[in-house]
Amino acid sequence: MTDRDVSLSHAIREVLFDQATIATRVAEIASAIAYDYRKRRPLVVGILNGCFPLIADLVRSIDIPLEVDFMAVSSYGSGTSSSGVVRILKDLNQAIDGRDVLLVEDIVDTGLTLRYLLDNLNTRRPASIEVCTLLDKQEARTERLEVRYVGFRCPNEFVVGYGLDYAGLYRNLPYIGVLRPEVYQKS
Ligand code: IMP
Repeated sequence: MTDRDVSLSHAIREVLFDQATIATRVAEIASAIAYDYRKRRPLVVGILNGCFPLIADLVRSIDIPLEVDFMAVSSYGSGTSSSGVVRILKDLNQAIDGRDVLLVEDIVDTGLTLRYLLDNLNTRRPASIEVCTLLDKQEARTERLEVRYVGFRCPNEFVVGYGLDYAGLYRNLPYIGVLRPEVYQKS
């Protein structure tokens, strides 16, 4: 096997958002969040697994006091289309009644995962819940949802990198791209 065969970028057909573009946009969103929450102490909730690069970069640019917690949900299994079935694999470590919650997602696609999470968290009586997503695939949306902070509109294609995976792989790509079709066909 050659170095070229194992290199992650070899599996990418097209780069949609490069590292510098992502960094600039994440910093812009962080400034907006810092301003909007300047009089509050938000609980920033990352939705695992895909949120990890975004939440790490985002919170380090939000220059106000905040807390961080995580939830893990499964929605897709290992394929590329939504099953519509959402399971909580890890819940929050704390109660959120009276808290200003900011959910951080990698991507909102159909919106089924977010719909489930918002319905679930709203029963816990937070003061507010807003959503921040790096990518918004509006064309695929089946749920009516309000997403306050959006990094980029994303074409209706399956994308990987910067936390987003295909069958568990490619989360560690520093940019976001579209996989080559051969990669699906092989698996
Ligand atoms: P939704 O429930 O259809 O909105 O899907 C949300 C979840 O599906 C995201 O948090 C991702 O984990 C996954 N997902 C949706 N689209 C993509 C994609 O293009 N690449 C990788 N994961 C995706």
